[in-house]
Amino acid sequence: MIMLCPLFSLPPADVEKLLDDAFGTDRHQRTAYLLRKGMPVIDHLSFGIEDGKAVIGSIQCWPIAIDDAKLVLVGPVAVSPHRQNSGLGKQLMHAMLAATTAADAPMVMIGDPEYYGRFGFDAIGTVGWTLPGPWDPRRLLLRNPDNVSLPITGRLGPRTRL
Ligand SMILES: CC(C)(COP(=O)(O)OP(=O)(O)OC[C@H]1O[C@@H](n2cnc3c(N)ncnc32)[C@H](O)[C@@H]1OP(=O)(O)O)[C@@H](O)C(=O)NCCC(=O)NCCS
Repeated sequence: MIMLCPLFSLPPADVEKLLDDAFGTDRHQRTAYLLRKGMPVIDHLSFGIEDGKAVIGSIQCWPIAIDDAKLVLVGPVAVSPHRQNSGLGKQLMHAMLAATTAADAPMVMIGDPEYYGRFGFDAIGTVGWTLPGPWDPRRLLLRNPDNVSLPITGRLGPRTRL
């Protein structure tokens, strides 16, 4: 049976295996990992899906910032290669969005706009932003439904000062 649960309730090694399967074992070099380096995962926005044998999906969220503005970094979002395109990614995204509170900041992620556009993410507000590693500007996405004021230009990074 497929079950959605808080990420912290799942064995970390099983989640790591899923991430290796979805992104490759060299994934730690990715810019998204530099963006949230040293930050703790946000427990109430992070979920996993298991099928009784393995972890087959996960979503993790992290505290990051640009200048003095708080942001939530969404990702990695991962579904096991043999389980993709069966609705698990949507289930993870909807669970995460349903768990947001008024205290949660606007969200940013590096991902495909063709997929994450359906959840309210686009690259319009991120044009002037820079990252601590290489990135494709069309894949740097923002979700800011309350139109929180954010810097037009600046560098994203771990939320160390706020
Ligand atoms: C991207 C990912 C999370 C999507 O989850 P999923 O469970 O496979 O997808 P879902 O079943 O929720 O959605 C399927 C739909 O999304 C589309 N889709 C899936 N991945 C897509 C992508 N990268 N770009 C555009 N569309 C995509 C499918 O074509 C399908 O479209 P339809 O609803 O019109 O038929 C998953 O495929 C994955 O883990 N991929 C590898 C890791 C990755 O690239 N993660 C994203 C960066 S953080």
